[in-house]
Amino acid sequence: MKIKVKDNNYFIDIVYKNDEGLINYLDENHESKFLVITDENVLNIYEKRIESFMKGRDYFIYSFPAGENSKSIENYIKINEFLSKMNFNRGDKIIAFGGGVVGDISGFVASTYLRGIGFISVPTTLLSMIDSSVGGKNGVNFLSLKNQIGSFYFPEYVHIDYSFLKTLDKRNINNGMAEIFKYSVLKDESLFKYLRDSDNLNYEKIISTSLNIKLSFVKDDEKDKGKRQKLNLGHTLGHGIESLSNYSLNHGESIGIGTIYMARASYKLGISEKDYSKDLINAFNKYELPTHYDFDTDEILKVLKHDKKIKANMINEIFPVRIGEVISKRITFDELRKVIELGKDDE
Ligand SMILES: NC(=O)c1ccc[n+]([C@@H]2O[C@H](COP(=O)([O-])OP(=O)(O)OC[C@H]3O[C@@H](n4cnc5c(N)ncnc54)[C@H](O)[C@@H]3O)[C@@H](O)[C@H]2O)c1
Repeated sequence: MKIKVKDNNYFIDIVYKNDEGLINYLDENHESKFLVITDENVLNIYEKRIESFMKGRDYFIYSFPAGENSKSIENYIKINEFLSKMNFNRGDKIIAFGGGVVGDISGFVASTYLRGIGFISVPTTLLSMIDSSVGGKNGVNFLSLKNQIGSFYFPEYVHIDYSFLKTLDKRNINNGMAEIFKYSVLKDESLFKYLRDSDNLNYEKIISTSLNIKLSFVKDDEKDKGKRQKLNLGHTLGHGIESLSNYSLNHGESIGIGTIYMARASYKLGISEKDYSKDLINAFNKYELPTHYDFDTDEILKVLKHDKKIKANMINEIFPVRIGEVISKRITFDELRKVIELGKDDE
């Protein structure tokens, strides 16, 4: 399946165990030198595969330890050093081959090296396939703050081969699944029902549906000033929970819990007619996703004070109206306290 992202002029291929689109793209750019950026886990599993589609080309592989700690300014500098030493120039390209960590740092390097060189994205986790590989956000963590330094910059081509998911562990699959549930709450009730009821998921279908939903929110708002913010459903609380759990809960798990709390708060505030948190909890149980986290509201508010989305003590929060529709409301930090309290489970 092919998706054309008209606004930013690139294609996304969604395939199963098929490098053809990638090879065609590389062939069209045969004069370029390539740097394949990946992490050590992914390299261990897929070195042969990388070698096979890069065969006969001028390329290097750059790998670093897997994990969020590699999304650092130090690593960013090292990659830039490598590119400079190897005389990469404007016509050369970066291939991000890995999960969101690889994608975020590679895109950031690509956007700043020589004021911008081409990059292509080959996401290998479910989360990166349905979220981070599109939308143009790149960056690194800095001073313990997530994505503190970064850029908006789009890939030239995205190659999604969901056969890579075969080697991904269940927890990382579910990390992506939670984001797919979020998309369903934003815009697509039938996607929700499909996830809830299907026993044999069609990945091509859920990846393409998710990407189309994400792209519809990014369209006309690349820089995240308006409707794109709806993609942050569950994220304010989710980021707080992720941080309070000392990252023992991952991003997807945390924003999943955040989405459940927002659905419960919406019902108690009269924004939704039904308590959709119950439907979400039922569906999440099927995927063994956590649905609850105990926290102290003051503690979480301390963490949330640093949230990039807060401006002049106000924050745009996203509230589910029903599964498939949300609204955005500008609320004060005090109102946020109330929303968080309402989101907690009384039982
Ligand atoms: N730019 C964006 O819009 C955006 C959106 C969401 C998340 N993110 C970022 O993405 C990052 C999280 O991404 P992630 O969940 O992909 O994490 P990740 O990149 O750390 O990958 C998770 C783990 O899976 C391993 N892995 C990757 N592909 C594999 C495969 N096919 N088989 C086996 N193991 C594999 C990795 O080595 C790693 O250990 C975070 O830094 C987050 O901030 C960015």
